[in-house]
Amino acid sequence: MSCSLEEYVPGKIYIVEYPIRYMGIDLFSRMTIVRMDDGQLWVHSPCSPDAQLKSEIDRLGEVAYIIAPGTFHHLYISDFQSCYPDAETFLCPGLEKKRPDLRFDWILGNHTDLRWGSEFDQVVIQGTRIISEVAFAHENSGTLILVDLLENIGDDYTHEAGLLLKFWWKIIFHMWNNPKAAPEYQVGWGDKEIVRKGLEKILSWDFDRIILAHGNLVESNAKAVLVKAWEKALKTT
Ligand SMILES: [Fe+2]
Repeated sequence: MSCSLEEYVPGKIYIVEYPIRYMGIDLFSRMTIVRMDDGQLWVHSPCSPDAQLKSEIDRLGEVAYIIAPGTFHHLYISDFQSCYPDAETFLCPGLEKKRPDLRFDWILGNHTDLRWGSEFDQVVIQGTRIISEVAFAHENSGTLILVDLLENIGDDYTHEAGLLLKFWWKIIFHMWNNPKAAPEYQVGWGDKEIVRKGLEKILSWDFDRIILAHGNLVESNAKAVLVKAWEKALKTT
């Protein structure tokens, strides 16, 4: 299946949806490409690009940074590296242990990396038990970029949802038409004091839309959607 590049913020942000299979469930994930002010490309949660997609990416600029933003978002890093061997790879903390086979240059930190510091905010969500990620906000466009901290699948999902996805989302996790963090977060937020600090940092940023990995983008009431989705984690008493 060939995945196509969609221009999301004109001249700045491009997204690509690509199919994945996880725990027997078919769903989609999303790659985000930001063309930085110097024309270099910052690539977040990459897919495995075919020749057509690669040529579309190449027309945008030079891939400088490959970001594996979450401990569950690493499947196609090696494929993408093969296409862009000169790009620097940054891993979410924890991935270096989970995927010791992955070649990488840097571990993402809790402060915005100087390479993209004038254009993004960045925080590591720490304290969780099963899953973690590094959240980013692209300042100029007011766009929060997450992977699993928010999933948004329901009746208006832009893909046909299979029975297994519906079963888990509707019956087990009550996430159908109800954006929430990924099940791996919900089954135990871990040390909520620490988690809450990370989530509150995200909420302090200036954004009004959310790019996420699984489901529809959030283009209105973005902060209210997050506060509701993270209600349990934000409550510490
Ligand atoms: Fe994910």
